[in-house]
Amino acid sequence: LCRHFSSSAVRNVVIKNVTIIGGGQMGAGIAQVAATTGHSVTLVDTSDDILKTAVKGIEGSLKRVVKKKFADKPEAGEEFIQKVLRNVSTSTDSGSAAQRSDLVLEAIVENLKIKQDIFHQLDKVAPEHTIFASNTSSLPITDIASTTSRLDRFGGLHFFNPVPMMKLVEVVATSATSKETFDSLLNFSKVLGKTPVSCKACDGVMTSQVPLSNMFVLGSPSGHGSKEDVDIAMKLGAGHPMGPFELADYVGLDTIKFIIDGWSAKDPSNPLFAPIEMLNKLVAEGKLGKKTGEGFYKYK
Ligand code: CAA
Ligand code: NAD
Repeated sequence: LCRHFSSSAVRNVVIKNVTIIGGGQMGAGIAQVAATTGHSVTLVDTSDDILKTAVKGIEGSLKRVVKKKFADKPEAGEEFIQKVLRNVSTSTDSGSAAQRSDLVLEAIVENLKIKQDIFHQLDKVAPEHTIFASNTSSLPITDIASTTSRLDRFGGLHFFNPVPMMKLVEVVATSATSKETFDSLLNFSKVLGKTPVSCKACDGVMTSQVPLSNMFVLGSPSGHGSKEDVDIAMKLGAGHPMGPFELADYVGLDTIKFIIDGWSAKDPSNPLFAPIEMLNKLVAEGKLGKKTGEGFYKYK
């Protein structure tokens, strides 16, 4: 891959201190993996209650990891969990967290304006060397970065859900991202134990799960089968670990809707991005999938 990078005033940054904005499924997962690999992590969200739930989620996930990793040594497992949790602090003040960070990674709601506003604020207070990155599924990194003055120190880091299990990270460079920034993000992904792939900035990243889910959500009402049948068919016939309806619930139906609506606004005649009545109805009812206990399926 031949790539031209912009130049940067800042040399390679070794990422030690990480601020993660958004303590939802993705932010908490990334915080867990970064803390496990020895980084000092500050997880930021809008309320202490949300942050408490996020840390509880991290602890729950670590217990699942430890059950296998320390199968015969439960005490060492508990010690491991406490050690990782000591690397995680929480805050509702993104500005002060950013002041102490080598990397600020955003994993909040999939909304361009909200992401732009946060980075605009943080750009004024973060140190010169601090790299900014977004975990967006579908928004152009160039657009998110446009409200900052650190275009050379801005990239995409696209993790997959569930972060502790999924090995891939798509590292996105815009035309303004410096080589130093890109290398730092690649290296950070490797230190986290992930396999990074390099991705050119565009609308969305390479692994476009969403259109795939969308096609089947569309397909079902026209007689291809019930959601249960579609999911079973894709698991047993195509070897997917989850069927498209299960996966949509797992990702979050609000996120799926944000992605489809965003793409539809840009390409209104593309039938893949046509509105999906059932999805819109579930989102309007607050049934956002696994994270709220109900989506296409019921949980618990
Ligand atoms: N934390 C820690 N360990 C976990 C975990 C988590 N969150 N989730 C699963 N595990 C581990 C545990 O060891 C678990 O064993 P226990 O239940 O005994 O704890 C083991 O995995 C098996 O899990 P399950 O029995 O629950 O189910 P599974 O075998 O189906 O595996 C899965 C779970 C890894 C999530 C698998 O179903 C899968 O790979 N699903 C597809 C996920 C996928 O496609 N993700 C991408 C979504 S799209 C995206 O992320 C991009 C975007 O921008 C929208
Ligand atoms: P989520 O709904 O689980 O969590 C979002 C969190 O962000 C919530 O806790 C919310 O309180 C917080 N938040 C919202 N606005 C905030 C603000 N201004 N400041 C601080 N915190 C704020 O969402 P998620 O599934 O974790 O997705 C987050 C991002 O990651 C989205 O951009 C999404 O497209 C992307 N992503 C999602 C998945 C997935 O499978 N869910 C996979 C890869 C990427």
